[in-house]
Amino acid sequence: MLKDSQGLAVTTNSSSAIAAIDLYTEQSLSYGNNAEIILQAIAIDPTCAYSYAHAAAHYLSLESAQSRRQASPYIQAAQKYASAATVREQLYIYAIAAWAIGATKKAIAYHEEIAEKFPRDLISVQRGQYHYFYLGNKERLLHIAQKVLPYSPENHYLQGMVAFGLEQCHQLQEAEIVGRQALEINRHDPWAQHAVAHVMETQGRIDEGIAWMSSFTDTWENCNSMLYTHNWWHIALYYLEKGDVKQVLELYDRHIWGKAWQESSKDQVGAISLLLRLELRGIDVGDRWEQIAPYLKARIHEHALPFQDLHYVYALARAGRFELVNEMLFSMQAYTRKASPQWQEVALPAARGMNAHARGDWQKAIALFSPILSRLHEIGGSHAQRDLFEQVYLDAWLRVEQNHQALQMLEKRVTARRYLASMQRNSINLLQAS
Ligand SMILES: [Fe+2]
Repeated sequence: MLKDSQGLAVTTNSSSAIAAIDLYTEQSLSYGNNAEIILQAIAIDPTCAYSYAHAAAHYLSLESAQSRRQASPYIQAAQKYASAATVREQLYIYAIAAWAIGATKKAIAYHEEIAEKFPRDLISVQRGQYHYFYLGNKERLLHIAQKVLPYSPENHYLQGMVAFGLEQCHQLQEAEIVGRQALEINRHDPWAQHAVAHVMETQGRIDEGIAWMSSFTDTWENCNSMLYTHNWWHIALYYLEKGDVKQVLELYDRHIWGKAWQESSKDQVGAISLLLRLELRGIDVGDRWEQIAPYLKARIHEHALPFQDLHYVYALARAGRFELVNEMLFSMQAYTRKASPQWQEVALPAARGMNAHARGDWQKAIALFSPILSRLHEIGGSHAQRDLFEQVYLDAWLRVEQNHQALQMLEKRVTARRYLASMQRNSINLLQAS
């Protein structure tokens, strides 16, 4: 038995296998583009259950039907060799196996147990945060990272996880401080950069946000396509706020869709969300919906995450692929029978609302969104990502010229921005005074 770079025991006698696991750990925590390095660990020691669990987790995180199939043999192999593994490795294997069958809450319970008993296991914390993110449980997303922080206080990857959790919990000044601390240790930490980008976006610090994220673009070349495109997406959002449409479209074509892994669900969601935001501002996006639509056929029956399905329905409708929209909505409806209540109660009406808006049926969009607006956080995604649905709803009110209702919503949004801006001013004063 040897120890990995986290100082944790791994059931293998091969230092080469450990070296490959360490490389994978680094890839996972840094959102690198070489996560399949874990397959080398398996090739070196085909009896190491832990490596199989990592490989399975890597494929599951790609969130497609095909990647779920790819994960399956690795889960079976992990379970086959699990009896020889340590308690920590076994808990991790249970967590990944639970994830594979959609038992997210069970998976989370295992990650929480690992965080409790083995607080230096940061990959497990990262997986726990991933699940909390898509459940919309921001408090627990923060908590699981904060509770292990005393055990790895100097680890910038963990600081980045804490920073993102703080931002999601609206503790913006703390988020920025922790994010910046992480980057002082290692400026090549795209998740910490991203956490601070969220703070700036939420506080409306547009020019600062552009300067901030642009100063790190040289560090993204080895990122996986998800975070590469997502970090560029954040830059595009700032330009959108400024009304610089030309720049937004250029970033979209060059980085966000142009360099996307176009079969990847996460990359598709980012691209769709940007096109939709452009259209909500009255911008003609040309044939970009039609360019995305063919890649979405694979998504129709997957239902990996409710938050993502809403995007696919919208894109297919805007591309005029109504037969595929109907197929997807029927498929979603069937899926709700075996899925968590959020699918039935929130995701399905929201998907129908997105379809209605995409087809110009504003009244129907309003009717479908109104009862569920306060529950949208239950379908996951970040504030910045989910804000899109509120924008769609607001747009529907504007289109039916119910300006009074739209004005009320806009006032609420402006008040929220002002409140966040004043919090920012306070924190700057505090920082200057200290
Ligand atoms: Fe983000």
